[in-house]
Amino acid sequence: MLSLAPKILRHSLLCGLLASALSLAPAFAQNPITFEFKGVDQAVKTLSLKDLGAITPAVSLKVFEVHENAERIYRAFPARPVLDKIFGKEWEKAQEIVFTSIDGYQPSIPIAKFLAYDAYFAFAHENGAPFTMTNTLQNNEIVPLGPLYLIWDNINSKVLLESGASDMPYQIKSVEIKFVAPFPNIAPPANASAEVQRGFAHFRKYCMACHTINGEGGGKAPELNYPVSVVEYIKPEYLKRWIENPQTIRYNTTMPGLAKEIPDRGKITEELILYLKVMSITKRAPMKPSDQGELDRHPRP
Ligand code: HEC
Repeated sequence: MLSLAPKILRHSLLCGLLASALSLAPAFAQNPITFEFKGVDQAVKTLSLKDLGAITPAVSLKVFEVHENAERIYRAFPARPVLDKIFGKEWEKAQEIVFTSIDGYQPSIPIAKFLAYDAYFAFAHENGAPFTMTNTLQNNEIVPLGPLYLIWDNINSKVLLESGASDMPYQIKSVEIKFVAPFPNIAPPANASAEVQRGFAHFRKYCMACHTINGEGGGKAPELNYPVSVVEYIKPEYLKRWIENPQTIRYNTTMPGLAKEIPDRGKITEELILYLKVMSITKRAPMKPSDQGELDRHPRP
């Protein structure tokens, strides 16, 4: 079994290389074939696909590809043995895993989700096609998926199918385990209303992987709060429309609107806006990366 793995890997890696070099030369230049895993002590391990193959054999997994609204089969490594090997069983006691993508997307996914469902790191299409996809949620952009793409065994899980694309980062370049809840600057004040707290939860689920608030979150899309909040310069009716249907405002935007299928979408949008309003009077200057490192090393209770 193990002796086969490197062969399969070399093959797919080579396909990936060729495909990228032919069709995606510029993307390939910034697409490292290694990726980083960071533990709580900030120790960084740099790994390649070959290293992952030495930890656990790759499998073929059929998933419902939310970004393309169709079934796809990927070559992938199961996440659990990889996390066990790299971080030790301790990772199960952490709070969240923060994934950082080459394009700035940065979702933070609760550990509980990895314990309840099976995640995989995909690295190739089963059929050898270039490792890209047409992202129907982002104005049909063709996006490279490598070096790693987080997928879930979702075909038979209603919960996973409903959770949409927010926990499926592609172009993963780093995976970081967080033992203290990350991102203190995006939380509303503790005495904020229940609606605002729900709005905060929606923001974490649907928006934060792309946007920052007070400098914390993903770097794929603009900051929404500091120094001037979107609620201060976008009229309320346009803000609601932007969140639900951004393409009716800017035809070529790559922002995906809140999916129509989400139950109670109108209410979710309203709670999101309430959260944004509270944050507009809870501005905190973005932390410098050096301060962030300091916080990781000396977590406050
Ligand atoms: C996949 C990434 C992505 C996600 C998820 C996302 N956005 Fe955006 N958003 C963008 C991009 C990119 C822009 C920049 C404008 C453009 O491309 O037209 C943007 C722009 C905006 C703007 C306008 C900012 C300005 O000053 O013009 C608002 C407001 C906004 N987003 C709110 C949200 C909210 C609220 C959510 C969650 C419900 C969300 N976004 C989810 C990518 C995203």
